Amino acid sequence: MDKRNREHLTRDGIRLHEPGDFEGMHRAGRLAAEILDAVAPMVRVGQSTGALDEAIGKLIDDAGAVSATIGYRGYRHASCISVNHVVCHGIPSKRKVLKNGDILNIDVTVIVNGWHGDSSRMYTAGTISRRAERLIRVTHDALMRAIEAVRPGNTFGDVGHAVQNYVESHRMSVVREFCGHGLGQVFHAPPNVLHYGSPGSHAELREGMFFTIEPMVNLGRPETKILPDDWTAVTRDRSLSAQFEHAVGVTADGCEVFTLSPAGLFSPIRN
Ligand code: MF3
Ligand code: CO
Ligand code: CO
Repeated sequence: MDKRNREHLTRDGIRLHEPGDFEGMHRAGRLAAEILDAVAPMVRVGQSTGALDEAIGKLIDDAGAVSATIGYRGYRHASCISVNHVVCHGIPSKRKVLKNGDILNIDVTVIVNGWHGDSSRMYTAGTISRRAERLIRVTHDALMRAIEAVRPGNTFGDVGHAVQNYVESHRMSVVREFCGHGLGQVFHAPPNVLHYGSPGSHAELREGMFFTIEPMVNLGRPETKILPDDWTAVTRDRSLSAQFEHAVGVTADGCEVFTLSPAGLFSPIRN
């Protein structure tokens, strides 16, 4: 790494991007969001998660972009699709067919001109229960509280605290084993963005930092386990889990959200 690049890393190894880099992230983030918008009408009872993934792969190809997940640590799909008690990293399958009342997270990461767009959101199949609806709303609103805490001078602890405080005040729990991450020209970079913590702890937010916030929230206990496929994370108590993910960049007075839904479809629940 040359001297100039080194000077753009904090002592925690977090890259401080240039003003011109926001445009690259904006384009990548917008494509991820457009793809998540485009699959919304396909999410219905009787549809398989494998077919949804196939459609996502085609949309990425058609856009002339590249999937960041295909080939990542041996992962072979263009998305992760996590249904009901699956917390994250659900593997799409033609044998996994959506049924009435299912809730699911679809997570897509695309590479556009070298920049990573990473976002996930919740979808519903048929009519969902009141408690599932409440879980989705609280998870969405926790992410929005966290984004409101993103500005120079605040810390990553403030971001995590915003999620934890909101979620626990609704008597739900925050998953600890998975976190958000720095991103940019790499998929997963420092820091680990925890979705819990105390105000003022961890690194200070500075202009030009790019990272995801992607809280996973469970209706029951926070503990997870990984299935024998080595990817699928589920709640240990089999309670329902939800997740939303945005990629953001810290600006002089707040942040830019790179993965906003152009169609306004980020949350399936009317707030
Ligand atoms: N998109 C996920 C994230 O938010 C990572 C998925 S990695 C995969 O960081 F290999 F499981 F696809
Ligand atoms: Co991510
Ligand atoms: Co993601």
